[in-house]
Amino acid sequence: MKVRKAVIPAAGLGTRMLPAAKAVPKEMMPIVDKPVMQYQIEEAVNSGITDILIITNRGKESIEDYFDYSPEYERHLEMKGKTEELEKLRAIANMAKITFLRQKEAKGLGHAVLQAREFVGNEPFAVLYGDDLIEADSPTTKSLIELYERFGKGVAGVKAVSRQQITKYCSLKLEEIEKDVFSCTDMIEKPSPDKIMSLYSILGRVVLPPEIFPIIENLKPGAGGEIQLTDAMCALARDKGMIAYAYPGTHHDMGSKLGLIKANIAFGIKHEEIGEDLKNWLKEFTRGL
Ligand code: UTP
Repeated sequence: MKVRKAVIPAAGLGTRMLPAAKAVPKEMMPIVDKPVMQYQIEEAVNSGITDILIITNRGKESIEDYFDYSPEYERHLEMKGKTEELEKLRAIANMAKITFLRQKEAKGLGHAVLQAREFVGNEPFAVLYGDDLIEADSPTTKSLIELYERFGKGVAGVKAVSRQQITKYCSLKLEEIEKDVFSCTDMIEKPSPDKIMSLYSILGRVVLPPEIFPIIENLKPGAGGEIQLTDAMCALARDKGMIAYAYPGTHHDMGSKLGLIKANIAFGIKHEEIGEDLKNWLKEFTRGL
């Protein structure tokens, strides 16, 4: 079955980005001149997704407003004859069929995904973690969808990380099938060093079958007292097997201060308006370090 729906969980508290997260959801922090969420929507749309559900919570109304029309700005741009800017702004609201749903309590990523059950129905769907930005030549979600359609199994986008990092993420038991494509039969969230299965961790993108919902529903709180999506995927991997794909490109963690700054530099030096100036400034600046 074709994958045409995507869920973007963006209802976390973002405590690592406090105090800024009090005013701006981490999923809406700017990367140069666009909020993180726009990059996620662009990736989904460029992957063939037509219907998107964003999971939000209290204080994240700015996400909904962003994907709506903005008559004040539009009128202003129209009066000034700035047609190109006007079209760009309008296009944001028409990128895809976007709907919103609230997770009433931040009970974990698994619980956030469970809110999408009705939206998803009996179809496979993609999950783009709201705070994981991927900088790549081709959309990562598209590659995952292609693998889902080829193997008929849930697919996780993975990256090799350090031993220290893996204890904060999850670790997967993998066997390589072809270059960068693995069969996955087990995984663990936030493993202690003796429980590490491999240094591959799921970073930001998965494509799942609807069978994941009854599994999540029956989960008990896991690491950190949260309903962990990893625990549900672990049950799926043990029972049916999953595919893992070590995707190319750079993963940026928008839930961390360092990640946000690195992403701004990485996207900034490629930006057509400010790229050259930023590069020149960086060269000067780093000389003094
Ligand atoms: P994180 O675990 O990085 O988010 O979840 P967090 O809880 O906001 O992080 P900190 O530790 O407090 O800084 C990854 C993604 O899942 C969403 C987040 O918004 C983020 O995009 N999420 C997480 C939810 O939608 N609901 C939750 O209950 C937890």
